[in-house]
Amino acid sequence: MNAPIVVDSVTALRAQVREWRRAGRRVAMVPTMGALHDGHISLVRIALERADRCVVSIFVNPTQFAPTEDLDKYPRQLARDLDRLREAGAHLAFTPGVSEMYPAGFATKISVGGPSSGLETDFRPSFFDGVATVVAKLLLQAAPDCAVFGEKDYQQLCVVRQLCRDLDLPVEIIGAPTVRDAHGLAMSSRNAYLGEAELGIARQLNVILRRTAAALSTGTDEADAIEDATKAVISSGFRKVDYVAARASVTLAPWRRDHDGRLLAAAWLGTTRLIDNVEIASV
Ligand code: PAJ
Repeated sequence: MNAPIVVDSVTALRAQVREWRRAGRRVAMVPTMGALHDGHISLVRIALERADRCVVSIFVNPTQFAPTEDLDKYPRQLARDLDRLREAGAHLAFTPGVSEMYPAGFATKISVGGPSSGLETDFRPSFFDGVATVVAKLLLQAAPDCAVFGEKDYQQLCVVRQLCRDLDLPVEIIGAPTVRDAHGLAMSSRNAYLGEAELGIARQLNVILRRTAAALSTGTDEADAIEDATKAVISSGFRKVDYVAARASVTLAPWRRDHDGRLLAAAWLGTTRLIDNVEIASV
């Protein structure tokens, strides 16, 4: 595979996409914060099935990190990321610096309602404003035909769909299934923070979620199921549970048994915060 073109300015990004468009190519985008793993690469594969050209952005977006969070220690490994993108066949890596995305005097914030309320927002109040603002910018900068986002960050996917619908952004949003390791642990750049013993504990989260989703599907009382799941996460070794919650799968409104649902969780393992979610099959 050819190495991807690497550009760090919006002008160069736009010029390249414009050239592809003029040649009749369909363009897909995969926004990321780098430290690419098999989950990210699966999005590139899906993008390449849906389009002729794939743009991957790598930008650790400061506006979605709270001052207490891991912005400084977030893994950055551009050379390795570019190798992975070459292997995957991505055509362009957009790697803007902070001043390209947020030049001096930048003063706009996009705040999405609906699916952004609750769950992550209860614990990271400014997170989705940061995500929505940077995603809107990236989609306007690259102007792709479609963009791929992972179900791993399920609430984020719902927020991005709402953003594009509400602002009439002419981009098709494609949701991609979560890529997991052999033990079911959802791949995440933050798994790099975990030692061997912690990885063993982290792998319990998806097991508990799957068990709980099955119990909900077969009629277990919701409050009882959520309480049991929360206790199980703590007894498997997590330090703190932010939430385990059953929600409607599109709006993220409270779950109703006769509708498609999603079971979402966030929990702390030492100083690392992990999230995961699974489908609740309607019966
Ligand atoms: P990041 O955490 O790097 O994730 C980039 C994309 O990869 C997201 O759409 C995410 O859902 C997806 N992804 C991560 N792990 C995955 C897995 N195990 N399986 C499938 N997809 C997975 O999410 C962000 O970056 C940022 O918030 C961003 C959207 C780039 C805005 O800054």
